[in-house]
Amino acid sequence: MTEKDWTAVDAYIIEKLSPPDAALDGALKRNRDAGLPSIDVSPAQGKLLHLLARLAGARRILEIGTLGGYSTIWLARALPDDGKIVTLEYSPAHAAVARENIQAAGQGAKLDLRVGPALESLPLLEKEGAVFDFVFIDADKRNNPDYLQWALRLARVGAAIVVDNVVREGRVLDAASDDLDIVGTRKFFDQAGAEKKLTATAIQTVGAKGWDGFAIGLVEKA
Ligand code: SAH
Ligand code: DHB
Ligand code: MG
Repeated sequence: MTEKDWTAVDAYIIEKLSPPDAALDGALKRNRDAGLPSIDVSPAQGKLLHLLARLAGARRILEIGTLGGYSTIWLARALPDDGKIVTLEYSPAHAAVARENIQAAGQGAKLDLRVGPALESLPLLEKEGAVFDFVFIDADKRNNPDYLQWALRLARVGAAIVVDNVVREGRVLDAASDDLDIVGTRKFFDQAGAEKKLTATAIQTVGAKGWDGFAIGLVEKA
């Protein structure tokens, strides 16, 4: 099986289970027009995030890494009308596209988009007393160990933490890698395995975005 087959099966899954969606398609088009990299979650992964957030009964979601807001829209739609999604984005250009996309999708009232390095926004959220039911980590992978620690500080007991791109075509296995993103991912796995507050697993994925995977954890105690 090749990446072409994985993409064809993803297309089949979407054709059967996900009707055409003008807001999501429009967001991807605006991203393309603005020259954003197409590193959003796939449509099937976006719907998985949506379903996980609903299964978790999330009312407050934290996302680290907005890009053009494709995953943000999927997650915002999982929230009740008075729910909130705080999403952190380093790039003002990405954030501007995301704001437009999320508003066009009718999710603007739930949006709290903060521009800047996530490691500067996260301490402010803690000072504000923010608490989250669901955290999606999908920014610069080298900082995933720090993002995991912040997620644990800001999540309530019973919250879910999902981390994208933890396999990267198997490169996660390269203990000698000097790629800081691989080093960060491996440190994230070490921390997640040692962390008494977290029960976690990771699932490899193939599909329209190649061979990768996501980790998911449940916060067991404060
Ligand atoms: N979650 C998005 C994809 C995010 S891509 C989706 O699935 O639709 C990763 C994003 O993280 C990029 O937009 C990048 O600019 C942002 N990013 C990178 N480093 C960051 C940092 N230190 N703080 C916040 N955002 C960062
Ligand atoms: C990259 C980032 C992502 O979040 C992703 O899903 C795929 C690729 C990247 O930085 O290359
Ligand atoms: Mg990702």
